[in-house]
Amino acid sequence: MQIFLDTANRQEIERWLAHGLVDGVTTNPSICVRDGLYDLEEGTRGLCRLLDPRPVSVEVTSNDPEQMLGQGRAMARWAPNVVVKVPVINQDGLSCLSVVHRLSQEGIAVNCTAILSFNQALLAAKAGASYVSLFAGRMADEGGNPSEVIRNLRDWLDRWAHPARIIVGSIRTVLDVQLAALAGAHIITIPPQFLPRMVDHKYSRETVRGFNADAERALAEFAARAAGRS
Ligand code: E4P
Repeated sequence: MQIFLDTANRQEIERWLAHGLVDGVTTNPSICVRDGLYDLEEGTRGLCRLLDPRPVSVEVTSNDPEQMLGQGRAMARWAPNVVVKVPVINQDGLSCLSVVHRLSQEGIAVNCTAILSFNQALLAAKAGASYVSLFAGRMADEGGNPSEVIRNLRDWLDRWAHPARIIVGSIRTVLDVQLAALAGAHIITIPPQFLPRMVDHKYSRETVRGFNADAERALAEFAARAAGRS
């Protein structure tokens, strides 16, 4: 299973790259504006250089499928590791799967996003998306069961040896990460603020504190015995 960071924050990406935890990055327009990435082309190029060869998802910004297609083609030229994010439908409910299909046929990696149901994911995979982004938190907002959808989708992809990869996004709690991992997500895209909480545990701290105290005692004892021998 891979971990992506759901962020455009360069410092956070550098920090967690150094821990060996980052297999890619996902952004969306809300993340970009929150993290101060206003020049989408320049900012995405910079992230792509930092992450190379890991994938960096960048989302189209138009509501019009024809314009999405043009944007997607242009974005794909920004860097070899760009993945173009296309919503499964636009804000009016119009299918954007023709965009997913055309870009994929042109050899452009597509992350089909804003997916909230099994059927949307199935169609996105059929249309040629390399990645299907299930929004776990938003599913749960409406009383849906993200684990069930992830598990069913993973079973279906495996049954047909389909190459699409499930990205679970819209992570709201540390428990969401655990549930998505156990349900069979290929990839979880995690907001970086959750990683310190995932790695930390008060009893681990206490355990290490005990080891450190004993190590100091052992060193002191060793020094005392060495001094006694001289
Ligand atoms: C990732 O690809 C998604 O864009 C992101 O996780 C959505 O998260 P949100 O539901 O918290 O906006």
